[in-house]
Amino acid sequence: MAHQHQYDILIIGSGVSGLSLALQLAEYADVAVLSKSELSEGATFYAQGGISAVLDTCDSIDSHIDDTLIAGAGLCKPEVVRFVVEHGRESIQWLIELGVSFTKASDTSGNYHLHQEGGHSHRRIIHAADSTGRAIETTLESKARAHPRIELFEHHTAVDLITRAKIGQPVNRCLGAYVYDRNSDTVSVFRARFVILATGGVGKVYLYTSNPDICTGDGIAMAWRAGCRIANMEFIQFHPTCLYHPAAKSFLISEALRGEGAKLLLANGQPFMGRYDSRAELAPRDIVARAIDHEMKRGGYDCVYLDISHKPKDFITSHFPNIYQQCLNFGFDLAAGPIPVVPAAHYTCGGVVVDKNGRTDIPGLYAIGEVSCSGLHGANRMASNSLLECVVFAHAAYLDIKNNLKNVNMPKMLSAWDESQVTDSDEEVVVSHNWDEIRRFMWDYVGIVRTTKRLQRAQHRIKLLQEEIAEYYGNFRITNDLIELRNLVTVADLIIHSALQRKESRGLHYSLDYPETDSKHPPQDTVLSSPRFHNNHEAA
Ligand code: FAD
Ligand code: SIN
Repeated sequence: MAHQHQYDILIIGSGVSGLSLALQLAEYADVAVLSKSELSEGATFYAQGGISAVLDTCDSIDSHIDDTLIAGAGLCKPEVVRFVVEHGRESIQWLIELGVSFTKASDTSGNYHLHQEGGHSHRRIIHAADSTGRAIETTLESKARAHPRIELFEHHTAVDLITRAKIGQPVNRCLGAYVYDRNSDTVSVFRARFVILATGGVGKVYLYTSNPDICTGDGIAMAWRAGCRIANMEFIQFHPTCLYHPAAKSFLISEALRGEGAKLLLANGQPFMGRYDSRAELAPRDIVARAIDHEMKRGGYDCVYLDISHKPKDFITSHFPNIYQQCLNFGFDLAAGPIPVVPAAHYTCGGVVVDKNGRTDIPGLYAIGEVSCSGLHGANRMASNSLLECVVFAHAAYLDIKNNLKNVNMPKMLSAWDESQVTDSDEEVVVSHNWDEIRRFMWDYVGIVRTTKRLQRAQHRIKLLQEEIAEYYGNFRITNDLIELRNLVTVADLIIHSALQRKESRGLHYSLDYPETDSKHPPQDTVLSSPRFHNNHEAA
């Protein structure tokens, strides 16, 4: 039998959640970390605004909790919100001790500068200028590269999880994963005592997204196929302000600009947010994104405008050096006048159902970070709560795994990947065509504002695509694009299913057919159970 990789811990994903967990567990165990691309390539690297935490003496834990619950529109789990918020300060301290260099206030206090963002009633966003994610990711990466017990596998894509239920053994447990090596074009088996999904979100399922290319929902799709419950997938967050330019790939213009007074304007220079919410530009994202969408559709505009040019140029260039430069590269001077912006898919509030330690439904399998649905975000994530969730849940999972490490044996040799029934594809165009089709109809039919008819149209197309992709997958050797396509069609289906199930508008899910929030019944998560979930349940 071919060589099989064997580690105490297999972490699938090298963003802030995956690397934070790896660094802590590597003090006790041998850890493998997989990354689909270069190690730093993921949503984390591109995070701009910062991380929320109660650091100011005028702020309070209760206020951060309240703001998060309000943004979450009735679906946050209050005990999870409290747990995350209460661990904010120590999480930031951990990052500082690792060497993350956050921006200091310009006064002589020695305190850190704090941004203000939508939904927050205080300044509580600690940041590294406007490249917070880069500062965090590069710090974690340099520590991980130097650690003797962490082995890093770049350009390695996990294809599917291996569980005892899948191979017909009683008492379910995750045993490892099949992993595609993009360099050698081969698939190998990784066995591990614990497997962690830290694979990020699903932004690439939409035509326009702030997310990098790796965000194809692989972890959610793998967990679903393995039998985990997936919740709240209808709550896709659209960031209100991405640069509108054909070559900008929806480059994000941080909410922190609005926190510093930037105004949203129509082409004629009129502000409009005051007509939608008393908090105007600093209303939660669902409200701002919907208001922009409405104004664009009403007036037939391609974009709206964001203006911070009333601030001095040196304020703009010192607070937002990266955004200023990127805009300049596309021909827009933030200091000189308004810049064109549009909303784009940004964050996945739903995901793999986990408990407070990041445990999924399958013993031995954890999910942390954006891939998970922990109960923190409910129906709408508040700005800058995501990086915090990643660090807090990485620590919680670390404690839980460390406590159980001794009780779990290494899985025995597993069946190798079988390629005996497949050939090389002679029709790669099917893959690229289906990629484009999914992303376009998800944008057109399952976007910021939904209707039942549009969702049903999308569902019809998804069914056809699922059959076609399953057939293709069954007949041909896998490629990275094919693995991602298979996952995209799965997560698109989960989003549409969840959206059709919700007969109300709440948080990020807005339906013209059900414009009101259901106040007659207690708010409910949309929980989807895959067919395997029942098997697991029986086996447990
Ligand atoms: P990621 O950082 O996305 O990492 C995912 C990892 O999984 C990658 O290493 C990828 O290669 C790997 N992976 C995926 N699939 C596979 C597979 N099949 N096999 C192997 N590896 C795989 N949040 C905030 O709180 N504050 C902000 O200021 C902020 N700004 C943002 C700005 C932008 C432009 C974006 C896109 C997001 C922003 N967010 C922000 C959200 C936040 O950045 C993400 O939610 C967070 O970084 C997710 O971290 P993660 O570790 O879960 O996933
Ligand atoms: C931003 O800087 O606007 C992004 C913040 C976030 O997504 O939390």
